[in-house]
Amino acid sequence: MDSPLGGLILGIESSCDETAAAVVRHGTEILSNTVASQIAVHSPYGGVVPELASREHLRNILPVVRATLREAGVAYQDIDAIAVTEGPGLAGALLVGISFAKSLALALGKPLVAVNHLEGHIHAVLLEEVRRAASEDEPHNVEKGQTLALVVSGGHTHLYLADFGETAGRARWTYRNVGRTVDDAAGEAFDKVAKLLGLGYPGGPWIDALAPHGNPDAVPFTFSQIKAKAHRRGEPGALDPTENIYFSFSGIKTAMLRYTKVYEMGASIETRHTALSKLENPKPADALPLCDQRTLDLIASFQRSVVDDLRRKTFRAAERFHAQRVIVSGGVAANRELRVRFTAEAIEQHLPIAFPSMALATDNAAMIAAAAWPKFVSGSFAEEGLTAEPSLALGR
Ligand code: KG4
Ligand code: ZN
Repeated sequence: MDSPLGGLILGIESSCDETAAAVVRHGTEILSNTVASQIAVHSPYGGVVPELASREHLRNILPVVRATLREAGVAYQDIDAIAVTEGPGLAGALLVGISFAKSLALALGKPLVAVNHLEGHIHAVLLEEVRRAASEDEPHNVEKGQTLALVVSGGHTHLYLADFGETAGRARWTYRNVGRTVDDAAGEAFDKVAKLLGLGYPGGPWIDALAPHGNPDAVPFTFSQIKAKAHRRGEPGALDPTENIYFSFSGIKTAMLRYTKVYEMGASIETRHTALSKLENPKPADALPLCDQRTLDLIASFQRSVVDDLRRKTFRAAERFHAQRVIVSGGVAANRELRVRFTAEAIEQHLPIAFPSMALATDNAAMIAAAAWPKFVSGSFAEEGLTAEPSLALGR
C-alpha cells in the first residue's frame, strides 16, 4: 500500500566502499541520495581492504539511513518498501546492508526488494532519462526497443541488452549479457595504473584530470595485442564466443609497467608518491606539478587507448544486436574523455546515447531504489533467506 506521499522506496547499497542510502519516489524522483565514502580509509592501501570496508559500513549504515530520511523529509513509516543490493560485491560488505535492510523491513512490516548492483547502475541512467523526458513534457521511450548498456566500473566491464516487457505475466526488465572482460575491469585498470604511477586512489579521477595535459598519441598502445589476448582467453561460458564481445585490460597494464621500466621512471614515481602521501587530502591538481611531460603523455595515451577500446566494442555490439540506444554507466562513465568520444560516435551512428549525472555514475543507493521500483510494483519481493551473492550475474 502506498503511503500518503506515495510509492517511496528506501534504497540501501553497501557492495564495495560506499555506504549509501536514498529515498526515491515511483522509481524516478530522488528525494534524497546520501553516500558515505570510505576513500580516506582505503587510500593508504591503494585499493579496497574488504575487512575495513565491512567495519566502516557497520559504523556508517545507521547514520546514513537516518540522514537520508531526514533530508527526504520522511519518517520510517512513510516508506513503502526497502530495497537492498544483494550482489555482486564484497561478501562482508554486502552482508552489512542486507542484514540492516532485513531487520528494518521486519521491524517496520514493509516488503524487501533485492536488487542486482549492475541492474542498479543501468537504472541510474534510465531514471534520469525518464525525468528528463518528463521535464521536457515528452513521453519517455526507455521501455521501447532494446537498450545496449555498457556497465563499466571498478569491478565490472559488461555489455547488456536490456528489454522491458511482459514475462511470465509480469512487466519487468530482462537482460542479456553480450559482452564482458576476460580479466581486469576497466576501472581496475585505471586504479592499478594510477597506483603504478604514484597517483592517488581511486585512480580514475586522477587520470581523468591529468590526461588533458598530455599527448594521447604519444604512446601507441596497440589494441591488437589486447584483442588477440581476449580471443585467446575468452572461455565461452554462458556467452557465445562467435557473437559476444570480449574486453581485456590486463595487457595495457603490463605494457604501462614495461614502459615505466624502459624509461627508468621509478625514481620520479617514488618522489611523486612520497610527496602526495605527505598531504592530508591530496588532489589531482597537487600531482600536476609533480608529473613530467613523459608521464603526462603516458597517462593521456593510456586513457585514450582504454576509452577507444570501450567505444569501438560498444558500438560494434550496438550494431550487431540492433540496439535502439546506448547507455553507459558505472564509475568509469564519469570519465570526461569517454563521454566526449562516445557522444561523437553516437552522433555519427545516429544512435541516442545517455550517461548518468556525475552523482549517479559512481556507487549510490538511488539507483538501487530505482531498479527496485518495477519489482515492487509487480510484487517481486526478496525471499526470507536472502543473503549476500558476491558473484551474482545479471541476465542470461
Ligand atoms: O561504480 P563504482 O563507484 O564502483 C564499482 O562498482 O566498482 O566505480 C568505481 C570505479 C573506480 O575504478 C574508479 O577509478 C572509476 O570507477 N572512476 C573513474 C572516474 N571516476 C571513477 N574512472 C575513470 N574516470 C573517472 N572520472
Ligand atoms: Zn558500482
